[in-house]
Amino acid sequence: MTLIRELDYGTPIRVADSTVTLTIDGQSVTVPAGTSIMAAAATFGTQIPKLCATDSLEPFGSCRLCLVQVEGRAGYPASCTLPAGEGMVVHTENGEIAKRRRGVMELYISDHPLDCLTCSANGDCELQDMAGKVGLREVRYGYDGANHLAAAKDESNPYFTFEASKCIACSRCIRACEETQGTFALTMDGRGFASKISAGGTDFMGSECVSCGACVQACPTATLNEKSVIALGTPEHSVITTCAYCGVGCSFKAEMKGETVVRMVPYKDGKANAGHSCVKGRFAFGYATHKDRKTKPMIRAAITDPWQEVSWEQAIAHAASEFKRIQVTYGRDSVGGITSSRCTNEETYLVQKLVRGAFGNNNVDTCARVCHSPTGYGLSATLGTSAGTQDFASVDHSDVILVIGANPTDGHPVFASRMKRRLRAGAKLIVADPRRIDLVRSPHIQAQHHLPLLPGTNVALLNALSHVIVTEGLVAEDYVRERCDLQEFESWARFIAQDHNSPEASEALTGVPAAEVRAAARLFATGGNAAIYYGLGVTEHSQGTTTVMAMANLAMATGNVGKLGAGVNPLRGQNNVQGACDMGSFPHEMTGYRHVSDDATRETFESFWGVPLSADPGLRIPNMLDDAVEGTFKALYIQGEDIAQSDPDTQHVTAGLRAMECIVVQDIFLNETAKYAHVFLPGSSFLEKDGTFTNAERRINRVRRVMSPLGGLADWEATVALSNALGFPMSYAHPGEIMDEIARLTPSFAGVSYAKLDAEGSLQWPCNDAAPLGTPMMHVDRFVRGKGRFMLTEFVPTEERTGALFPLILTTGRILSQYNVGAQTRRTENSRWHEEDVLEIHPFDAESRGVLDGDLVALESRSGDIALRARISERMQPGVVYTTFHHAKTGANVITTDFSDWATNCPEYKVTAVQVRRTNRPSDWQARFFDEDVSLTRIAVPLDAAE
Ligand code: SF4
Ligand code: SF4
Ligand code: SF4
Ligand code: FES
Repeated sequence: MTLIRELDYGTPIRVADSTVTLTIDGQSVTVPAGTSIMAAAATFGTQIPKLCATDSLEPFGSCRLCLVQVEGRAGYPASCTLPAGEGMVVHTENGEIAKRRRGVMELYISDHPLDCLTCSANGDCELQDMAGKVGLREVRYGYDGANHLAAAKDESNPYFTFEASKCIACSRCIRACEETQGTFALTMDGRGFASKISAGGTDFMGSECVSCGACVQACPTATLNEKSVIALGTPEHSVITTCAYCGVGCSFKAEMKGETVVRMVPYKDGKANAGHSCVKGRFAFGYATHKDRKTKPMIRAAITDPWQEVSWEQAIAHAASEFKRIQVTYGRDSVGGITSSRCTNEETYLVQKLVRGAFGNNNVDTCARVCHSPTGYGLSATLGTSAGTQDFASVDHSDVILVIGANPTDGHPVFASRMKRRLRAGAKLIVADPRRIDLVRSPHIQAQHHLPLLPGTNVALLNALSHVIVTEGLVAEDYVRERCDLQEFESWARFIAQDHNSPEASEALTGVPAAEVRAAARLFATGGNAAIYYGLGVTEHSQGTTTVMAMANLAMATGNVGKLGAGVNPLRGQNNVQGACDMGSFPHEMTGYRHVSDDATRETFESFWGVPLSADPGLRIPNMLDDAVEGTFKALYIQGEDIAQSDPDTQHVTAGLRAMECIVVQDIFLNETAKYAHVFLPGSSFLEKDGTFTNAERRINRVRRVMSPLGGLADWEATVALSNALGFPMSYAHPGEIMDEIARLTPSFAGVSYAKLDAEGSLQWPCNDAAPLGTPMMHVDRFVRGKGRFMLTEFVPTEERTGALFPLILTTGRILSQYNVGAQTRRTENSRWHEEDVLEIHPFDAESRGVLDGDLVALESRSGDIALRARISERMQPGVVYTTFHHAKTGANVITTDFSDWATNCPEYKVTAVQVRRTNRPSDWQARFFDEDVSLTRIAVPLDAAE
């Protein structure tokens, strides 16, 4: 195994309709017009020395190391900024060029510390490489003149250092922050010799920097360097794998020393991220080896008993006998399982297979229930498939972008950077969000329209947008006539044209001025390729599914499905939420979204698995918990999900968990749900197993094992063992064999195999005989369901109402540094940015309650109350407050209600009527939480330790 080093062409590879042919060092080369001489030379292996150029950034031409000679031209132009010209004859090496390059390099080295041998970047430094490459052997100027060698070091960022003495002022970091990340945190202060990189006049930690790592990646010296590299030394080999955080699905090189991850480097050939990253995937991997990891299986008879460490065999045998006992006592349907969007496709597939094959029922559900289940239902009903329509690259072709109910700069940062690039290039932006999220106004970006709707009124707003399009004659009539069911369209058009759907009528509901809605609708319909990107601010509502349908209606009516730059695009929350849904995790569907009641589908699985399958849809998570409280549901196998923290109405969830007789939790940490568990199976992190994740683009990416499972077994191996103990045999030598089974049983995965994934890098389903290399864009010539189907989307207000007791609306979400319930990120240095959950509140609401910034406030709803600190923020609108749910001790979901989407039961996290008042103590629930945190997590001293 070796370190993977991608080829750096020096400047971006251009895409152009025409080509030019030139001669470089006697070799004829043809490249797309606009390609630089430097990149043209790199295409046939000639690496022209360079320092300020790298192919992820536009050429800058500052270092002058890359000079070349062009016949018939005077001087020595920089090859990074000079476009290849038809018929040019170029020389990249000769005596004069070499002399000039050595002269340039000499100046750099004369102001650089001479500590290469002890430098953390020794062997991985472009300056060092280039000094060797240009043949620099001596420095004539001496080192005692004016220099920067005593410049101060900035170590404020938890993950990287800035060692100014090593800076060569090449500006790659500044350009990476601007062009790649779009944050504009860095500048060059001063001029000439006094030039220095500045993080806005402060240190990195205090600056606008979001720790994406793009500058560290771009820096050709050790000036910006990972602290992990400084601590552990340069890595020795690398393995390509996939980030385990969000649904962007970034590819990384895990750079290793033995079984220790030294750093995660974004992989340039990764199709979802093209070499970019965010702070989570890039730096927040330390949780995988955190001291809180539980690596021994454990069992206990009652949740008030201390845990007893046991062998895997004992734990599996105990769990299996409990499930069998409970089924004999309470019936076949008294048990079930929950799959995880954090686990691989293969693991998820096995858990649902175990539930259906070993338990003999369809009581399997997944955490997508609480996030994107309305996406599946809504897009399937309208377009015919339960997934987003585009790949990420499509946004490069968008002219208008509607972002609704999503905060991509925090939730999906790498895609947000791509979107921001397109916006800086001129695409127009409409943001529909109760908060003034960063996208509304950030460096060089200004939304044309911010529609600050009240939480719970998405459908009314989307209906109003469509109303304008229909009543102002903006419908793409040819498209609709050709592609959509006309009868359904006409019925929808009559409905949407009714006065009650007009912007003027909706204004009272949404709070958005009618004129702004009209202008936004006109822009969407007439501005060119129009794309919709949305998140959980759409789905986590009582009308989540209706909202998804309303977006599909809007996209179809304007002809914006099935072409580049358009589409309806869910930004998936967790790394494998798409995959968990694809893999048959829902109680009514087998893999590939085929209903369990379909005889042909069932027969396919029955004959391959060798067991009869139930045709009755099973229980969803909320139904399982309700039935547990009722006393009819008794046991649950939960892989990689923490429903006690993540699901709404915590007190109801924990009541359900307490009522069960056997809960098996498989997780890397003893999570909140494990407090109510009887069997704990140590989980494995993404670094410890092979498999695949499927991202928001339907892209199947490989996850590769870089270290041994700390608990001894990868998650899929534990599921196999449990299934075997239950008497439903499973046998796989490697997850690749599980994927082969998935491909055999799932038409949309029929062409997927590990061999093809290794060869292609990734594949977007459907991938089968009709599309052997996958499908970047869906619904191109026709909708998957045939004709696009317009659905009537009547606005129905949520039953959760504000009033005198609970006058404010609480909405929840996540932030950049933390990930969902925080199980991973809380155990990393990311906590430096977000040590606790806080309540964002508008100054008006704060003042009328006497609340000052930083005050402890009680947040009360009909479900319960908690205490947390207030942060006064003009991002909020009056009447709406916001918090995150990363810290278990905060208990944000104690407040949320059990209202849910009418079609899918996706909880209504985004709308809770609350009151806020000052307090000086934790809530009763929080006090209990601290007690139970001790009493329900005790571990008995292991026998071997006692001896
Ligand atoms: S880490 Fe990212 S955001 Fe911070 S300065 Fe570097 S490029 Fe900019
Ligand atoms: S910090 Fe690195 S990338 Fe930035 S100017 Fe200095 S040497 Fe170049
Ligand atoms: S954008 Fe998402 S997938 Fe990419 S590095 Fe960040 S968390 Fe990981
Ligand atoms: S690499 Fe061309 S001028 Fe620096």
